Amino acid sequence: MLSAHDNEILTRTGPGTPMGDLFRRFWIPVALAEELPHPDSDPIRLKVLGENLVAFRDTNGNVGLLDNFCPHRRASLFFGRNEECGLRCVYHGWKFDINGDCVDMPSEPAESNFKDKVKITAYPTQEFGSVIWAYMGPPDLKPELPQFEWALVPESHRLVTRWTQDSNFMQAVEGEIDSAHISYLHSTFKREDGAGGATSTFAGSKKGAPELTIKETDYGFIYGARRDAGENGESNWWRATQWLLPAFSLIAGKGWPRGGHMYFPQDDEHISAWEYAYNPNEPLTEEQRIEGRTKFKIFPTTHTLPDGSITDTFRMEANESNDFLMDRQAQREWSYTGITGGRHQDMAMTLSMGLISNREGEHLGTSDKAIITARRRLIQMARDLQEGIEPYAATHGDLYKVRGIDFIAPEHDFFDFLESHGELGVAQT
Ligand code: FES
Ligand SMILES: [Fe+2]
Repeated sequence: MLSAHDNEILTRTGPGTPMGDLFRRFWIPVALAEELPHPDSDPIRLKVLGENLVAFRDTNGNVGLLDNFCPHRRASLFFGRNEECGLRCVYHGWKFDINGDCVDMPSEPAESNFKDKVKITAYPTQEFGSVIWAYMGPPDLKPELPQFEWALVPESHRLVTRWTQDSNFMQAVEGEIDSAHISYLHSTFKREDGAGGATSTFAGSKKGAPELTIKETDYGFIYGARRDAGENGESNWWRATQWLLPAFSLIAGKGWPRGGHMYFPQDDEHISAWEYAYNPNEPLTEEQRIEGRTKFKIFPTTHTLPDGSITDTFRMEANESNDFLMDRQAQREWSYTGITGGRHQDMAMTLSMGLISNREGEHLGTSDKAIITARRRLIQMARDLQEGIEPYAATHGDLYKVRGIDFIAPEHDFFDFLESHGELGVAQT
């Protein structure tokens, strides 16, 4: 469990909150580069850390990220004209560039210098790995980008998708570092007729309870989940997975493509969820691209948040409004959940906890070690920052060059395992 007070610290990321301040020390993924496909293309509405923003690509191809509300009379700049290196509010014609400077104010007399006194909030952006990243913290502390391997490979080698999920970010993050659930939530049973595509049948067996060991690192932690791989305990199935500050995860894998997730708050009850897949050795095949784009049936849409703000985003066809298209008959016969697709299964669980989970009602067990560690680390870092201690990871992008590991090894102890195979956790790019 977590006290109500600590849960507030952990989950609140709006302007001026301790966790909001911490997130604002990191670069934040805000949109796919392809959502702003060409110079002077249509602006899009985003919500990031509780702030309503408009993103646009100017005539030179640079991306601006401005406050949604025009500083004149607060009309939305989403309706603006994207022209000649600036976004012009269509209410009275005030025009702003990507730096937030007011470059034209036709509604005031020509001799007025009022426009030189007006600015709109503008955040710096960078394009990296097919993603538009924003930095929303103090300008003098702007760090380098996290040097993820997936973002460094050629564009042909990766696929990135994003969508909106209706919950606090931390529930989604916790699902990523919860190695125990894969033996249950994502499992299937063999049907008598052999159908059902059984993949993982560990549910209910002793293999369902992995031994977890965590090694805290500068970027967050790597944690190893060990299960017996042989009958006599002579070999061990290790899945070692990284959690990277503040809300990134890698998925342990054997082959390629491989991927991971990012979960960043739009507000405290809505997430921009991201999935990426990549192959460092060769381009993704057309089939992998099509599968990556179609498997969740993600479609572009607008989404109205409870406060009335509207975002341009993506949603999945299977979602909480249709119980993730759960099939009770399949659940009886061969599927643990009756829900198709790991992403949907994860979302069904983390969204079903409510928009912000009441962690006072939890009973955490030994398999929840990684979750407890991540909470403690984030809360501590948010408190430290209030005392003036800056987050080390934010300014050390090279720390993010790591890979997840999944393989059978003789070592029974995680630290022995890391000593023997640890280099496999580091990207070679
Ligand atoms: S409200 Fe934007 S110019 Fe008046
Ligand atoms: Fe999962």
